[in-house]
Amino acid sequence: MKTILAIETSCDETAVSILECTGDFNSASFRVAGNALLSQIDLHREYGGVYPAIAKREHAKNLVPLLASALEEAELLHEDIQPVSSELDERLVVLLEREPELWSALSAFLHESERPQIDAIAVTAGPGLEPALWVGVNFARALAIAWDLPLVSVNHMEGHIISALVKEDGDGYRVEDTALPLLALLISGGHTELVVMRDWLSYERIGETRDDAVGEAFDKVARMLDLPYPGGPEVSKLAEEDREDSSTNPFSLPRPMIDSPDLDFSFSGLKTAVLYTVKEQGALSPLQKRQLARAFEDAAADVLVAKSLKAIQQTGARTLAIGGGVSANIHIRRALAEALAESEPEVTLCIPGIELTGDNAVMIGMAGYFRLLKQDVADPETLAADGNRCLS
Ligand code: KG4
Ligand code: ZN
Repeated sequence: MKTILAIETSCDETAVSILECTGDFNSASFRVAGNALLSQIDLHREYGGVYPAIAKREHAKNLVPLLASALEEAELLHEDIQPVSSELDERLVVLLEREPELWSALSAFLHESERPQIDAIAVTAGPGLEPALWVGVNFARALAIAWDLPLVSVNHMEGHIISALVKEDGDGYRVEDTALPLLALLISGGHTELVVMRDWLSYERIGETRDDAVGEAFDKVARMLDLPYPGGPEVSKLAEEDREDSSTNPFSLPRPMIDSPDLDFSFSGLKTAVLYTVKEQGALSPLQKRQLARAFEDAAADVLVAKSLKAIQQTGARTLAIGGGVSANIHIRRALAEALAESEPEVTLCIPGIELTGDNAVMIGMAGYFRLLKQDVADPETLAADGNRCLS
């Protein structure tokens, strides 16, 4: 068994988890011993999106309290009754100087607390908002140096993929037997891509958006409909209400690139079509808002389904996994399930539990464990955040 401390700060959630991990890729099981997460959504709402300087400041403020709380929950937090030395490793001092506020809290914490019984530290190193990522990465580097532990650099999107492959099991998760090749449809605020995994943890990207990510389109459409940030869940709520009320919709929107021979996406034209409709109609009635939300969601889901089916045919995938914030969308989940049942009944659909769809550190710990199985460890002296980090 390996106990992993995982850290996630790629966007507007600060999260620390402690996972007890056992088994190989296809049989792994994870007990969540400690889990602490703070969302900054309320702070970013007034800006209508994530404001990087605030995200960075909040991560720096919250990491040490979240670390203490996760360790305490896991019963791994013990007072250091005999601090060996009050001198900090010189490498640590260099790191600590970069983020004064975080580091004064962290150095106090390191002096007061015993080294916990953990085996490795996993941290999201990208993709994401670079200033936000750096806070988590430097924090993880400092802990790895201070406690002399292996450091694992995790790709945030790999976390989203693994979170689709596990099923809840008591106080943790277990990987369901996963047939390869696996196709992953990654849909979030920053990504819309199709990735094929033929062997565990080796990826090839076969399709991506040429402009907006689907989550970004949801958020922009929400703004056009005067809905609060983050708009995805709000648009989805209106669309579902409309589906329950009526089987018809006066609005019909384009499905960009649905018939293109490649596996790429484009959502900018769809978003603009919503904008034109709003302008044409003038002030929208509550009913029209619901109808337009539904027309947008239908169009986005149709394109995601069509391209996923095409990708399954091209790759011979036996599993379709969806991951990322937009994978919480009920209509998209249902549309994919129906399409597979009808056209690809042999393919297993893997969908993350709702609690794992948003950003969290549990998925980073699971992906970190998988990386550790491959002995893929990072150097704490040089690990860097990379906002554009790719899977393949
Ligand atoms: O993965 P995530 O939490 O952060 C990124 O890594 O981007 O994804 C956030 C995105 C936002 O655009 C949000 O509006 C969208 O996921 N989202 C949804 C739903 N829940 C979250 N979009 C559509 N329907 C939902 N139910
Ligand atoms: Zn994410």
